Amino acid sequence: MEKLKVGIIGFGTVGTGVYKVLQTIDNIEIKKIAVKNINKKRNIENFDETILTNDAFQVVNDPDIDVVIEVAGGVNPAFDLLKTAINNGKHIVTANKELLAKEGSELFRLAKEKNIIILYEAAVAGGIPIIMPVKTTLSANKITKIAAILNGTTNYILTKMHEQNLSYDTALKQAQELGYAETDPTGDVEGYDASYKISILSTIAFNKKVSIDKIYREGITNIKPQDIQSAKDLGYRIKLIAMGQVLEDGKIDVRVHPMLVAKKHLLAKVNNATNSIMLTGYPVGELVLTGPGAGAEPTASSVVGDLLILASELKTSPCPLPQTVCNHEEIADQIEIGDTYNDYYISINASNNPGAIGIIGTICGKNNISISTIMQKGINPDNTAQIVVITEKSKESDVQNALKEMLKSDSIKNIDNLLRVMN
Ligand SMILES: NC(=O)c1ccc[n+]([C@@H]2O[C@H](COP(=O)([O-])OP(=O)(O)OC[C@H]3O[C@@H](n4cnc5c(N)ncnc54)[C@H](OP(=O)(O)O)[C@@H]3O)[C@@H](O)[C@H]2O)c1
Repeated sequence: MEKLKVGIIGFGTVGTGVYKVLQTIDNIEIKKIAVKNINKKRNIENFDETILTNDAFQVVNDPDIDVVIEVAGGVNPAFDLLKTAINNGKHIVTANKELLAKEGSELFRLAKEKNIIILYEAAVAGGIPIIMPVKTTLSANKITKIAAILNGTTNYILTKMHEQNLSYDTALKQAQELGYAETDPTGDVEGYDASYKISILSTIAFNKKVSIDKIYREGITNIKPQDIQSAKDLGYRIKLIAMGQVLEDGKIDVRVHPMLVAKKHLLAKVNNATNSIMLTGYPVGELVLTGPGAGAEPTASSVVGDLLILASELKTSPCPLPQTVCNHEEIADQIEIGDTYNDYYISINASNNPGAIGIIGTICGKNNISISTIMQKGINPDNTAQIVVITEKSKESDVQNALKEMLKSDSIKNIDNLLRVMN
């Protein structure tokens, strides 16, 4: 039996996981592995170092290689490498969400032109199968809504803030010590990683190109212990939610931000580094997939799964997997955050005087905002009080206008936080 010959670019967490899984599979041969630092010690038993190169172009230009597995990350030089690989007739398996979110249109266009397959199951939710199910078994559906926890680092931090009453900084430090967060955690905690993933997932689910540049993004660095406590008191948990929905007028609303999620909601029960994706579609209804969104082995499960699908398809067809072709031609009409409608949690620092709650109520009313809950949470040593408001469904721009107006009042000292709510 002829073996499928692969070249791997990247030999870090995912690359070594993929290598180890491929040692258990007979019909795949690893021809070359490209790394950045060829002198780095690789702690892998019986590893033949002669297949390593620090020139990744040797992988994409090798005429013997059928499939390139790109698990290096980043846009450059991965973009140039994969374009070269496609031009050289090599199929691609990648876990690189940043590259696909930013340059996917060009890669998929080129791949279509050259009759090349790009598979990327690992790029959205690590070990959770979501891309292939949406493209194949769920293809009878019109998917209208996605709500998901797509970043394990932030979910871990928020879980610890809830369960152990830790501050954001302490929970982050703990996550870094345990290897759940990187030394520079920006990509995770500021929501970039989740926004790359939701742009890829909503593009395939809604069958229109969702642009990463138009996705509203907000991370978790502004979540304070007092928000966590208020969320608990009100029956919620705070989660970083990546969401996408098709509105009645066909416009698309895609965003990433922290939300108060009602305790009874399935996403509120997803803790630590676990990821979860809730899809709503017709005719399937509501579907939830939960599991490990990262890590060497879960991610290798998806990468090697893609590779094995390719291996069997390439034997039977000159243009395999037509259903995996990505539709990037039709551009989604994405709405701005100001035009979205949500329930809101507003945490306000106000003077401890009898008029403050009245002022908040009046300003909300003037801006078309109905309040469903308002509570004062004790008095601070400086004679201010934390007032927490939960609104009914309101337009974001109305809420922003109301907050600006509140800040003009002598009674309102600060808006400590504004978060959206999912019931
Ligand atoms: N980690 C996860 O759980 C996970 C889950 C899903 C998706 N992903 C995605 O998978 C990709 C890899 O992530 P990772 O966590 O495995 O990263 P990583 O541990 O930092 O490993 C990156 C690897 O790429 C190599 N590399 C960097 N620049 C290179 C270049 N110019 N040419 C050749 N090799 C180069 C590095 O070489 P050296 O070893 O010599 O430094 C290293 O082996 C990223 O796109 C990431 O978003 C990761």
